[in-house]
Amino acid sequence: MDNPETEIKKWLEGRVSAGRYRHSVGVMEAATELSELYGVDPAPLRQAALLHDCAREFSARELVARAEEWGLPVRDVDRQSPVLLHGKLAVVIAERDLGLTDPAMVSAVRWHTAGHPRMSLSDKLFYLADVLEPTSPLPWVPELRVVAHENVDRAVLMAIEINTDHLDRTGRIVDPDTYALKELLTG
Ligand SMILES: [Fe+2]
Ligand SMILES: [Fe+2]
Repeated sequence: MDNPETEIKKWLEGRVSAGRYRHSVGVMEAATELSELYGVDPAPLRQAALLHDCAREFSARELVARAEEWGLPVRDVDRQSPVLLHGKLAVVIAERDLGLTDPAMVSAVRWHTAGHPRMSLSDKLFYLADVLEPTSPLPWVPELRVVAHENVDRAVLMAIEINTDHLDRTGRIVDPDTYALKELLTG
């Protein structure tokens, strides 16, 4: 690809809604800012931003069917809450459609939905960028931005706690990887 970002943007525009596209570009901005602040290479995270939600608008049935078709592990929690699969599917789609396999990009995309106890600093910055990107309307995001500039782990923990509380309150499943990460950060 001559200019990967331009090509990925064009590809993404044809696959997702306008709102999702704007979110992805917002994540790209936020990931770039956080990478520069913490001395991490922004290039893989900029790609990750454009790719991470490319399967987010698949139906529940399609998420499970594709994961099975492509040989991804499908856990019981994934069957109960198929949206948990969308980052892992995006990794496969990035390779199949665009030939993109940068390990830092892959890892950021794979773990962006639920987090994971073995996340790298770069993965954590991406996880935060997904939540605090400039188009987010969530009322607690300004506070999260402040914490993210002070301490990455504290910010990840804050995002996880808000997220799991919300999932619990709305009766939805929390990924066991999220609990494992939370335990690691609080332990
Ligand atoms: Fe996502
Ligand atoms: Fe996202």
